[in-house]
Amino acid sequence: MHPPQKPGPLRLKIVLANPFRPGAGHLPPYLAGRKGESEEFRRLLKQDVILENMVITGLRGVGKTVLLDTFHPEAIQTGWGWVGDNISESSSASEERLAIRLMTDLAVVTSSIVIKKQELVGIGFRPEKRHVQQTYDFEMMLDLFQKTPGLVSDKLKRVLECAWQCMQHQSRRGLVFAYDEAQNLSDHAIRNEYPLSLLLDVFQSIQKKGIPFLLVLAGLPTLFAKLVAARTFSERMFRVIFLDRLDESDSSAAILEPIRSGSLSVNHWAKPWEALAPAIVRTSGGYPYFIQFICREMFDMVCQAVENDVFQVSIPIDAILRKLDTDFYAGRWARTTDRQRELLTVIAHLDSAEDEFTVQKIVEKSRQLLAKPFRASHVSQMLGTLGDAGIVYKNRHGKYSFAVPLLGRFILRQQHYE
Ligand SMILES: Nc1ncnc2c1ncn2[C@@H]1O[C@H](COP(=O)(O)OP(=O)(O)O)[C@@H](O)[C@H]1O
Ligand SMILES: [Mg+2]
Repeated sequence: MHPPQKPGPLRLKIVLANPFRPGAGHLPPYLAGRKGESEEFRRLLKQDVILENMVITGLRGVGKTVLLDTFHPEAIQTGWGWVGDNISESSSASEERLAIRLMTDLAVVTSSIVIKKQELVGIGFRPEKRHVQQTYDFEMMLDLFQKTPGLVSDKLKRVLECAWQCMQHQSRRGLVFAYDEAQNLSDHAIRNEYPLSLLLDVFQSIQKKGIPFLLVLAGLPTLFAKLVAARTFSERMFRVIFLDRLDESDSSAAILEPIRSGSLSVNHWAKPWEALAPAIVRTSGGYPYFIQFICREMFDMVCQAVENDVFQVSIPIDAILRKLDTDFYAGRWARTTDRQRELLTVIAHLDSAEDEFTVQKIVEKSRQLLAKPFRASHVSQMLGTLGDAGIVYKNRHGKYSFAVPLLGRFILRQQHYE
């Protein structure tokens, strides 16, 4: 066998742009796995009457946003319209603000629809007083919203029903309302504002009337519990998809497919990557963000090695993890108190830290590790606070998990550095 030909350095530099994309919502060069989830979405798009909506949850960096983004073209291709955005805390501050959010997003799709005269009468407008060519834009929706008597939910329902009425002569199958960061949705009993319940009530009601508006919500693992706490019918209303870390073969594909494909498919170039893949999979724990992060860091190193005819590259794990610690974890860690750190460190020492843990287990471990162990009531209370801070969450079986991927490993590294 001939040794592989060394490509000129100039050629490598031009051809091989770093394809990896560690960044919130950045489309990866290759979307690994997630076939079942996409299939599930396609199934929901086949509904004539919407009985099931979708919730996508999972830890930060697991790929919720990019998955939602890939649903968009899928929906359009099958004749659906797409409405959506991120839900910020401020858009969920009151019922009216949430209604405005929905109308603003809906208007992007409907403002090109010209409404006929008799439809205007049906909606409650007198056409002769309006422009000859009225479109169902935000202004018109807001007008209708304000004129409709009743609660915010009555008003919003009317606006949505009219939107569907106006779309009748288009050949749309329906509309997907896709909202990311939906864990920000909350009811505020103190202020008597219930935007989350409003959203659920309105969609349940219009879906019952046969209007094909499909709700797809993506957010952190607290999301589904929040929905159920607001309205118990959420249990039946949503198909919940828990996005998990990628398995070994999908993780390898996330690393190697971008290297093997297209402009990067220089013969011998994949070799060092194939050798590196198992270690990258291990270090990343299969979390997509970490895979992108490590591969991005490794890319120039591998390029240089190949330029120099070196085909065995090792991962500078310590250096990469230190950078990851600064970029990904340090901000969150800095916001915890000393006593919280102590508790989190105890959790990190549990065998089940990457899975789930109970108050009882934490108490037991703290007796082994600390001179001043934690009491159960104190642990429960602290886990509540850490839950609000987005560091842990309580799952449906009442057990807890870290809400930040591989947080336990980070904590153990901190101890190591000290
Ligand atoms: N299936 C996947 N295969 C490869 N990389 C992925 C995959 N899903 C997500 N990523 C990458 O992981 C990172 C986090 O994705 P993102 O959708 O922002 O996560 P989340 O919304 O869950 O926080 C991005 O850099 C993205 O490119
Ligand atoms: Mg996201």
